[in-house]
Amino acid sequence: MKPPFQIAVFVSGSGTNLQALLDRFSLSSTAGPRVSRVVASRPGIGAIARAEQAGVPWSVLPAGVDSDSLAEAMLNELELAGADLLVLAGFLKLIPEPVVRAHRGRILNIHPALLPAFGGPGMYGRRVHEAVLQSGARISGATVHIVDEQYDHGPIVAQWPVPVLEHDDPETLAARVLEVEHRLLPEVVDAFAAGDLTTDPAGRPKWNRTLFRDERFVLVPSKS
Ligand code: GRF
Repeated sequence: MKPPFQIAVFVSGSGTNLQALLDRFSLSSTAGPRVSRVVASRPGIGAIARAEQAGVPWSVLPAGVDSDSLAEAMLNELELAGADLLVLAGFLKLIPEPVVRAHRGRILNIHPALLPAFGGPGMYGRRVHEAVLQSGARISGATVHIVDEQYDHGPIVAQWPVPVLEHDDPETLAARVLEVEHRLLPEVVDAFAAGDLTTDPAGRPKWNRTLFRDERFVLVPSKS
């Protein structure tokens, strides 16, 4: 029998995206894809409690080490996970070059805006939504992309737009984006595991099926 497709998830925060993955890919699945290990950038975060609750092995990366030691620790975790895919689900550290090289095209990140806008160093959490609101953009959304050596930079794999509404503040916008993140990320991971989404040796993605049924933007008619 083919071994199950194993997913490692790196986290830094509350882990709601991790939860969406745990709900879809449980460890008890013998044949299907499963989350095999959760790796946190710091202790005490909500994501660790979620891994614990799901009975998924977890660990914390060493703090205050140089990039080479961090890379070594990450590679070791990926080995322990038997990872076919690494998902960054709210992970705030830059993935060191040796890790990207060893797993090129097999690392996904989710970002809470429509890249290439509103991404890059320092663009995380509330700051992303503040920047979107400040820009006057009328659309935001979620992006899943392949991870390369730079923050929020690798090839885009999938996006899901959401409207920016008149009275949005960073929290209401974040909540609307998060809702689609929780649907998009497991779907993309599932497609990857199924071979519906593949990557070439340079890490460029290719879809072998369509992700959305149609492309309609349905207008709300004005009252006049
Ligand atoms: C999400 O908005 C994700 O897009 C970003 O960090 C946030 C993590 O949230 N990279 P959570 O920890 O999954 O709840």
